[in-house]
Amino acid sequence: MAAPGAAAGKDAWSSKTAFMLAAIGSAVGLGNLVRFPAEAGENGGGAFVLFYILCVLLIGLPLLLSETLIGRRGQAAAPVSFRRVAEESGASRRWEWVAVLGVLSAFLVLSFYCVIGGWVLYYIGIFAMDLLDTGLVGGAFQGVPAATVEGLFPQMIENGPMTVALNLAFLVITMLFVLRGISGGIEVAAVWLMPAFFVLLLGITIYGAFGGAFGETIAYLFTFDFTKLTGPVMLAAVGQAFFSLSLATATMTTYGAYVGKDVNLASTSTTISLADTSVALLAGLCLFPIVLAAGLAPGAGLGLMFQTLPHAFQEMPVGSLLGLAFFVMVGFAALTSSVGLMEAPSAWLIDGFGLGRRAAVLTVTIGAALLGVVCALSTGMLSGFHPLGFWNLFEGQGMLDALDTLTSRLTLPIAGLFTAIFIGWIVDKRLTDAENGLDGALHHFWRFLMRWLVPLALIAILVVGIFPDLFA
Ligand code: TRP
Repeated sequence: MAAPGAAAGKDAWSSKTAFMLAAIGSAVGLGNLVRFPAEAGENGGGAFVLFYILCVLLIGLPLLLSETLIGRRGQAAAPVSFRRVAEESGASRRWEWVAVLGVLSAFLVLSFYCVIGGWVLYYIGIFAMDLLDTGLVGGAFQGVPAATVEGLFPQMIENGPMTVALNLAFLVITMLFVLRGISGGIEVAAVWLMPAFFVLLLGITIYGAFGGAFGETIAYLFTFDFTKLTGPVMLAAVGQAFFSLSLATATMTTYGAYVGKDVNLASTSTTISLADTSVALLAGLCLFPIVLAAGLAPGAGLGLMFQTLPHAFQEMPVGSLLGLAFFVMVGFAALTSSVGLMEAPSAWLIDGFGLGRRAAVLTVTIGAALLGVVCALSTGMLSGFHPLGFWNLFEGQGMLDALDTLTSRLTLPIAGLFTAIFIGWIVDKRLTDAENGLDGALHHFWRFLMRWLVPLALIAILVVGIFPDLFA
């Protein structure tokens, strides 16, 4: 398909809308639906949410613009684009290592992301079976004790063969899309699944707003207690902002390489950030009312989605169908993210090492499957294996949790820091001026953020987050 702005013969988005849907698809995922409510619950609700929003606006959004800008200028996978932009600015080609760290992070995230994607497949399966069993009316899992329903989760994640099989299934589904390339695969997933996702999310949220405990939810999510805003909590919020916007994982740069010159990157970055943040907040507004209305406590962590929520669907009319719709929605969001996570390392193997798409995608898939098996088993058989346990940041964490912490608390903020230094201090100003789509005061503001606020804030947050004891 002829694509605007693409070099001859190169695969690219078939339209600006396709790019937007793919970028939003990559941003909106398990991070918004599972990780955000869990982090908000664990880190004290309102103050975390407020600090998170600040991070998105002042750090995430300007970095998102920077990343897509480097990609469009470089016209290739992230490390190659970083190298080209560095060379064009007369700087060392070693800046490509910032993006290599990003590619590596994408690979690590992909490995554990597809494990959780697999869990979602399991819940799609059990709600679908329940719908066939009990029919439309009444709650889900009729006649089954709530404890049994909540017990399904520990039972599933401790079942090694099950989690491994589910993980591989999710990985293979992802691979099938990425094998078909940008316009033929990744874009197709985004264009079909993202609109369906939004319809489901709005439908379930509105249902909850009328039928559920909406007022209590607002109180829960927006009560501010600023004494809770400690160094580690701030690091959690920044990490969550990076994770949720798909920053520092080479994907936004890679996606930017397939965008036409006529697209205003400042405005697309703003839309992507707004959409992503709205979905995170909506996820809270969607989950908590259902749970609170069922008279349940909104437990923190993964139990919220995988235990409390299925229990709540037991109490609701048309519960099986609602549960099925809910987990299908989560699955759609997860899939449009996992394709982005797989594309970033694949594109590097293609543009940086000359592999064909098929060989590149298979290599990444096999690598992610091998590491993924260790993650999948880390909630059961390998729960005693703590790969980074010698460091207190990773205390007691199995492979899945350790990779999650390693990326969101360390590699993402660090790669983001160097990207800011690169754009703010190294890249030729004429080059950023030509690409960023900003003018006047906003342009100066963006440069100020990239030169000063973003790097200094990230350094400060990394230090107080990693060494909280120094400041106690
Ligand atoms: N943003 C995704 C989410 O919220 C997770 C993610 C992080 C991601 N980095 C990415 C997805 C890169 C695609 C590409 O779930």
